[in-house]
Amino acid sequence: MQMNSPLEHLSTEEFEKLKRNALEARQRSYSPYSKFRVGCCIMLQSKECILGANVENASYGGAICAERTAAVKAVTSGFRSDWLCMAISGDSLETCISPCGICRQVIREFASLKMPIVMFNGDGSKHMIKTLQDLLPLSFGPEDLAE
Ligand code: THU
Repeated sequence: MQMNSPLEHLSTEEFEKLKRNALEARQRSYSPYSKFRVGCCIMLQSKECILGANVENASYGGAICAERTAAVKAVTSGFRSDWLCMAISGDSLETCISPCGICRQVIREFASLKMPIVMFNGDGSKHMIKTLQDLLPLSFGPEDLAE
């Protein structure tokens, strides 16, 4: 990894694992309506990976994004914290998709604002890295309720 990257503490092998898991997670997508598959990988400090994909519903508003699937899996597997980084991928070779607004807020509940989010294109040949703070500036979080 280049120096000064938010992912500089990740080895090349760990970055490849993150990418592979984000891309492979799309295989579990249930997206018959949009036909837009999304995969997500949350890598914990231990480098264990928790995968999620989008799950749609005949009542369209019931769709759950890949990022929220992964977040809920992480939390209900006992990992409310220790999120090292997150990666997502859609199928587009052109675009590196980024998390929707609702997902950003859900991630905000459990992740550090410094957590890097890696956005891959469909074959992993391109990516963008932003911190949660970059994607959700001036955010509202749990500590704002703690008086
Ligand atoms: N989707 C995600 O899973 N993550 C995003 O960040 C953007 C959108 C899903 C929701 C829906 O199943 C499909 O992509 C089209 O919006």
